[in-house]
Amino acid sequence: MCGIIGIVGRSPVQDRLIESLKRLEYRGYDSAGIAVYGPNGVARCRASGKIRALESKLSEHPLEGTIGIGHTRWATHGGPTEANAHPHRVGRVSLVHNGIIENYAELKAELATKGAIFESETDTEVIAHVLNAALEAGLAPLDALKATLDKLTGAFALAVLIEGEDSLMLGARRGSPLVVGYGDGEMFLGSDALAVGPFTSKIAYLDEGDFVAIDHTTARIFNSEGHPVTRQIRIVAASAALVEKGNYRHFMEKEIHDQPESCGHTLSAYLNPVTGKAILPPGLDFAKITRLQIVACGTAYYAGLIGRYLFESIARLPVDIDVASEFRYREPPVTPGTLAMVISQSGETADTLAGLRWCKSQGMVTAALVNVHESTMAREADIVLPTHAGPEIGVASTKAFTSQVAALTALAIAAGVARGHVSPDDELHLTRVLLESPRLISAAFQMEDAIRSLAPELAKARDVLYFGRGSMSALALEGALKLKEISYIHAEGYAAGELKHGPIALIDESTPVIVIAPSGPLFEKTMSNMSEVMARGGPIILITDAAGGRQAPAGIKVLIAPDCDALVAPLVFSVPIQMLAYYVAVQKGADVDQPRNLAKSVTVE
Ligand code: M6R
Repeated sequence: MCGIIGIVGRSPVQDRLIESLKRLEYRGYDSAGIAVYGPNGVARCRASGKIRALESKLSEHPLEGTIGIGHTRWATHGGPTEANAHPHRVGRVSLVHNGIIENYAELKAELATKGAIFESETDTEVIAHVLNAALEAGLAPLDALKATLDKLTGAFALAVLIEGEDSLMLGARRGSPLVVGYGDGEMFLGSDALAVGPFTSKIAYLDEGDFVAIDHTTARIFNSEGHPVTRQIRIVAASAALVEKGNYRHFMEKEIHDQPESCGHTLSAYLNPVTGKAILPPGLDFAKITRLQIVACGTAYYAGLIGRYLFESIARLPVDIDVASEFRYREPPVTPGTLAMVISQSGETADTLAGLRWCKSQGMVTAALVNVHESTMAREADIVLPTHAGPEIGVASTKAFTSQVAALTALAIAAGVARGHVSPDDELHLTRVLLESPRLISAAFQMEDAIRSLAPELAKARDVLYFGRGSMSALALEGALKLKEISYIHAEGYAAGELKHGPIALIDESTPVIVIAPSGPLFEKTMSNMSEVMARGGPIILITDAAGGRQAPAGIKVLIAPDCDALVAPLVFSVPIQMLAYYVAVQKGADVDQPRNLAKSVTVE
């Protein structure tokens, strides 16, 4: 889950490589580097840390040349040091890699017996050794690449420069995405359409196993057997402009505030406000579906948990849900009539993609609920269910999450109608309630000052617990994930009833507990769980609505969210949990948009 870019250009490439790497930084920011084919051959510059560290090195020692490759890294094998930064160079070969070479230890041992010396701890350097050895054995560049790929196990997208080939760039993909960009007398390779967005909107996605040779005007593409193939060239709308923060301090702050719009846009794809009817994409007939299997990771998984409540309660459709990294290992029996639905902001998450492919291999109909509509999942699933959150830059997912929840709510209503559990009157009522959610999300922003004022105290905590019941238990998990990933405070989310089965042992005066409890049928029971915590001295922050606030005991902090129907409570109550995490992270001076050790898009298993 690194980002790669390659340019075979007509003008100097250094600045363009950097521009592209900035767009790819969401894939990792442990180190960055570029290699440029200049008048004296290939030269490289690498730096540990973010791209600005590389920029500052380049400002002192710029690299001249019109053909080059670049990389931004999320460390897998070896720490985030300069020695482990890409491009890796061995003999005539300089290359950048996204993915993991699973048999690298075996290859490394074999190469070492032949005298190879390794400068890094990475799996990537092994590829450069194998390719260079193939070139030294006399193979032509493309044959050497094919011979190298045949030896690799694992996932990769590669861009390669070869000394002595000053207008050639090689690329390959297996498991990790790679696009070819077609410019005007220039050609590009990139991890995604965003990478090449400033230079061209004409791109071809390489298929699994493809490899490619580009020069200034052409791309020769081959499949895994080495046969020439053509891949469709599409015009994509990936904007040339970088998304800006505007007046916000962080992308996360902006993206929290984008939510009325992102949910509104998403809902307009699934609901007709005039007729009050839910709209389904072609090919999706819930009347023929007897079971839903949801597969996702992280925040998208928590959206799926909320989806399960909705599909089961509104549409009476049985739902199984799995974290993608475990899903295929449990080898679930496949029931006829199952719709497999993957949920992913990026549409590239390796485990979720593997889950999608597993479902396809079992003959299931597949749907991808994705925010990146040109992503691998969108291209491989039978049915695309788009969210319209727009680009989400902050590593902590916010507007993508609520857009997923909004789409799932609309789909659950549609499923209820198709399965005969939602009458036309109920459909009208439910869609009206759902269409109100953007306004209610906006209203929740009024909680901002109160939330900000709680941050200094909460920021001192070492551990924080979240709990709720029903769909709010999924929000408890999401709240805890948000807090830990951006503020580095240990946090756990629980279904409220589970506390007494173990976690309550953690409660003391220094362990804040966030209770998410809108008024309604589950409120009283959640209040009982809250009392159990209070009895043990745990400081409480209760997030509820006005009616809940009136019943809150004295001595606790209460945040009042806008009154809303239970259908849209997961959307409305997302705002305070996101803001709470955000302001605590700001209070701690953390790097909110690019928290340590994380990357926006996780393209390794
Ligand atoms: O792109 P995806 O939605 O597939 O990503 C899944 C997770 O990696 C992602 O939601 C992650 O948990 C976020 N950092 C959470 O804020």
